[in-house]
Amino acid sequence: MTRIICPGASGARILGTGAYRPSRVVTNEEVCGPIDSSDEWVRQRSGIVSRRFARTDETVISMAVAAASKAIAASGISPNQLGMILLASMSYLYQTPSAAPQVARLIGANTSGALDVHSACAGFCYALGIANSLVSAGTSEYVLVVGAEKMSDIIDPTDRSTAFLFGDGAGAVVIGPADEPGIGPVIWGSDGSQAGLIAHSGSWLTVRDGTGEWPTMRMSGQEVYRWTLREITPVAQRAIAAAGLSVDNLAAFVPHQANLRIIDAIAKSLGLPPHAAVARTVETDGNTSAASIPLALDQLTASGQVASGDLALLIGFGAGLSYAAQVVALP
Ligand SMILES: CC(C)(COP(=O)(O)OP(=O)(O)OC[C@H]1O[C@@H](n2cnc3c(N)ncnc32)[C@H](O)[C@@H]1OP(=O)(O)O)[C@@H](O)C(=O)NCCC(=O)NCCS
Repeated sequence: MTRIICPGASGARILGTGAYRPSRVVTNEEVCGPIDSSDEWVRQRSGIVSRRFARTDETVISMAVAAASKAIAASGISPNQLGMILLASMSYLYQTPSAAPQVARLIGANTSGALDVHSACAGFCYALGIANSLVSAGTSEYVLVVGAEKMSDIIDPTDRSTAFLFGDGAGAVVIGPADEPGIGPVIWGSDGSQAGLIAHSGSWLTVRDGTGEWPTMRMSGQEVYRWTLREITPVAQRAIAAAGLSVDNLAAFVPHQANLRIIDAIAKSLGLPPHAAVARTVETDGNTSAASIPLALDQLTASGQVASGDLALLIGFGAGLSYAAQVVALP
């Protein structure tokens, strides 16, 4: 296997993955009613066929716990060996306390640090980059990284530009020490000048003051689409180069599952080798923001399309605007 080059690091890698999808499948027909749209339009513009919506009693925390428990079991460690839990989410609706300490308690990680990471659709790759640094530096032996979203709480079912895109779910990975680096250097960045392209419709202050509605997601779809096509491929190429690799070394491409047209356009412009698997879970998950990459990773490793040790390029991008990418060895 071609090795990731990670100067100065003793090494960290993904040991196991886990996923949780709510049982309720929501069809395009169901979301299209309030937005005067159609199954055909949604499939053609986004590739989405269906998504999952959580029940009232399924929360960001409960979904995170379900995915985390599976990732811990797959990694062969016990929860009390975790030194840090990083929970990426944009749909956890408490300012405080953060969600990660509650996840820690519920999975039995009683001595772990616990931190929420708030970077929308780039959140999982940001958290993975932090986890890699913690384990490689010896700060924590094992780190749990979870992406968990209940996007159905923060979308407006009558908004034509977002109502059909998003879904709910959670995915998780456990990172642990390795003899050789199994996670490449993270390439990350942001452009706050474009903060308004994907943003809440208002502040919670307007709810307090009685001057605004419940804030929901808004997106300038065309501008976001153009930004991803212009900016994201070069970031992906830098992540491949930073790991000392070329695109031909990749066995898989697991981008944020924003929409199928974006995924296929980036895959094409990267010039992936024909044997590389491309994650397309957006078709049945929708865009699950920070959960989309670990959900897709879990499905990819379970599919038998890739082998342990194969290299996959991950890239998250979205609100902020922000992005993060790295190459990983699959568990
Ligand atoms: C959202 C997205 C699918 C919309 O597609 P689009 O081609 O840009 O659509 P537009 O907003 O330009 O609208 C095109 C037409 O479709 C119509 N339309 C818009 N939303 C519609 C909907 N939900 N259903 C049916 N028609 C719709 C518009 O009214 C317009 O009609 P017109 O040509 O008669 O004026 C597309 O912009 C996109 O994929 N953006 C990136 C979104 C994304 O992945 N974000 C996540 C990043 S984390």
